[in-house]
Amino acid sequence: MKTWVVTGGAGFIGSNFVQRHRMLKSARIINLDKLSYAGNIGNINNLFEDPDHIFIHGDINDRILVHDILTKYHPDAVIHFAAETHVDRSIIGPEAFITTNIAGTFSLLDEVRNYWNNLDPGLKDTFRFHHISTDEVYGSLGPDDAPFTEFSRYEPNSPYSASKASGDHLVRSYFTTYGLPVLITNCSNNYGPFQFPEKLIPLMILNALDGKVLPVYGDGKNIRDWLYVMDHVNAIYLVLEQGNVGETYNIGGSCQKTNIEVVQTICEILDQLFPNSHNKPHASLITFVKDRPGHDRRYAIDSSKIKHKLGWKPAETFETGMEKTILWYIENTKWIQSVKSGAYRDWIDINYEKR
Ligand code: NAD
Ligand code: DAU
Repeated sequence: MKTWVVTGGAGFIGSNFVQRHRMLKSARIINLDKLSYAGNIGNINNLFEDPDHIFIHGDINDRILVHDILTKYHPDAVIHFAAETHVDRSIIGPEAFITTNIAGTFSLLDEVRNYWNNLDPGLKDTFRFHHISTDEVYGSLGPDDAPFTEFSRYEPNSPYSASKASGDHLVRSYFTTYGLPVLITNCSNNYGPFQFPEKLIPLMILNALDGKVLPVYGDGKNIRDWLYVMDHVNAIYLVLEQGNVGETYNIGGSCQKTNIEVVQTICEILDQLFPNSHNKPHASLITFVKDRPGHDRRYAIDSSKIKHKLGWKPAETFETGMEKTILWYIENTKWIQSVKSGAYRDWIDINYEKR
């Protein structure tokens, strides 16, 4: 069986990836996660009896720890999800984004280079460093612009996207300079189970269920390209197994929606699920609030490369994915209580009080 080191495997996408691949028994997984506010041990609780899932509580900036993990477990691949990921937090406090997304990616990459240099030639060839990145590095599209391709110019606009862009550049440079076999994937907005409710879709679901205000930034017409998380997880695996080293693959849902459309869809589904709710119509909770500074107007991904070269296509439509997601948030009350801690309430006050 192969061994993978997964960073950030207690977060939203990372835990979906780890769960899927432990279920398929694709590899032994060494899961390195700092358990920041967004990391949740509850996302992987069921795996603590699994001898082929080893959780290590630690930071990618801890080079000694990373070195020890690599030499002890001898991975065939490192799949790097760990990051600070929320744009609004990057506006209020950018430093953590520099520390993890740039310095942390560098430390990890450099330790991986040392490890990889000492591998036998056969293993050196098959080893992979897979960097998980975002469409936000390409900046913002106008209404008639073509979707982002792998050749689109980098033009990040927030501290978050600038830090992810820096990470991408470092990873790419380790391929060009040292020949480290890297892969980079840039994906559009994900949604689905286990997403921390600071992000648009889970925030709106939980606020609507509680009869709270649904705060839509600006005019609500910013566009995102939505992809169900398991479709992203499947795309990552295809690229890991079959992608060409040194290359980038864009992943997107081909599902462009304005934010107001997304929020209205959530409200309509909740109206149908709870016809007697006193919050009905849930859309009456929608409130337009002060915009996010530097708010990117539109993202859209051209996924032709991964579709044509690797045969990927998403399994979920926006309708099926949203229904699954909303039901998950309704059914998983324990998980929701565990993430709505004091720290979560503090964030909601900081971000929304003055809007
Ligand atoms: P998340 O915020 O839910 O999880 C991030 C995880 O990384 C958490 O478990 C956290 O504890 C861990 N982490 C943070 N700093 C760390 C450090 N210094 N050392 C070790 N672990 C650390 O994020 P997510 O939404 O699951 O995103 C995962 C990756 O996918 C990120 O790299 C993000 O940029 C990228 N991405 C996300 C989306 C999206 O829509 N969510 C889309 C495209 C790409
Ligand atoms: O595009 C991929 C990126 O998608 C990932 O790299 C990021 O990690 C992820 O957080 C996400 O970034 P966004 O900024 O697009 O996601 P967010 O859920 O924060 O916001 C989606 C849209 O909804 C955005 O236009 C801002 C808007 N919004 C968000 C919140 C939290 C609101 O209108 N109200 C809100 O309260």
